Amino acid sequence: MPKIGKIELPDFPLLLAPMEDVSDPPFRALCKEQGADVVYTEFISSEGLIRDAAKSVIKLDIYEKERPVGIQIFGAELDSMLQAVDIVEKSNPDIIDINFGCPVKKVVCKNAGAGILRDIPLMVKLTEAIVKRTNLPVTVKTRLGWDHNSIKIVEVAERLQDVGIQAIAIHGRTRVQMYKGSADWKPIAEVKNNPRMHIPVFGNGDVDSPEAAEKMRDEFGLDGAMIGRASIGNPWFFKEVKHYFETGEHLSPPTMEERVIAARRHLQMAIDWKGEKLGVFETRRHYTNYFKGIPHFKEYRMKMVTSDESSDVFAAFDEVLQKFGDHQFV
Ligand SMILES: Cc1cc2nc3c(=O)[nH]c(=O)nc-3n(C[C@H](O)[C@H](O)[C@H](O)COP(=O)(O)O)c2cc1C
Repeated sequence: MPKIGKIELPDFPLLLAPMEDVSDPPFRALCKEQGADVVYTEFISSEGLIRDAAKSVIKLDIYEKERPVGIQIFGAELDSMLQAVDIVEKSNPDIIDINFGCPVKKVVCKNAGAGILRDIPLMVKLTEAIVKRTNLPVTVKTRLGWDHNSIKIVEVAERLQDVGIQAIAIHGRTRVQMYKGSADWKPIAEVKNNPRMHIPVFGNGDVDSPEAAEKMRDEFGLDGAMIGRASIGNPWFFKEVKHYFETGEHLSPPTMEERVIAARRHLQMAIDWKGEKLGVFETRRHYTNYFKGIPHFKEYRMKMVTSDESSDVFAAFDEVLQKFGDHQFV
């Protein structure tokens, strides 16, 4: 069974990927309930944390019920990263994860995120310093390389392991690919097959069905799957994969009632966490995904995403359940 430091995980764990504006406490709680074995916060700027920027600091909120939980940080300045580690430790996460994979220009141009893939010595130096700074297990999430011609992930993973990381999650794309094309899991399997590797190697990218997860496990021999987009609006995805592993059968998709219950709980948890106004506002982006594929739904979606009062959104959920309760999801 894979372990992250002392954290024992089940065979082929499923990890909820860090996702900006998605992997917040309410969404993480829903995914955890549906079988996610490890959850991560979205990436948090080390510079934001040390400036005590409210937007960054609120992302440190974690709850007992979601453990084991990792807090992900990004940056490229050694001092800021180390100070950020000290701040993150006070929130008492189970894991500190370093983001070496974000492809976004404004992050990359400062050498942070996937930008650091152009400077492997810096990547190793930062990682080593972070590992030395904390007693928490440190993990890394990264991509295959900067571009197709500079894929050195086998060597990179080994060097990161040698400076003390406890697990690595690899997205099977390069920085240059952004999200285009399909994820290539072969180089991730090469990392896993390196006889010197002894930490868990988690695969990431395009795990969008139970069969894909099975393939990552059985054909590519990876230690677990990190799941991003397939879980958005579908926290049940973790349960679907686990059910398929156990029985070889597909679970039927969640019913309208289950979706409404999830959307209600999502909204309520967001309000409990951030207050009425922000809770209502920030949960809006999730409704499209919960209620995807329902014909003639626009009027109801508009109510959900334009109402400022939670009571109106809750009323819209009730209306949806009444009107579309029998809708068959495929
Ligand atoms: C909306 C969104 C936000 C993301 N934010 C982050 C992030 O904060 N940190 C990170 O390491 N990766 C982030 N990613 C990348 C995902 O963690 C993951 O690597 C990528 O989506 C590929 O996995 P998937 O095919 O399962 O979605 C984000 C992806 C999406 C779609």
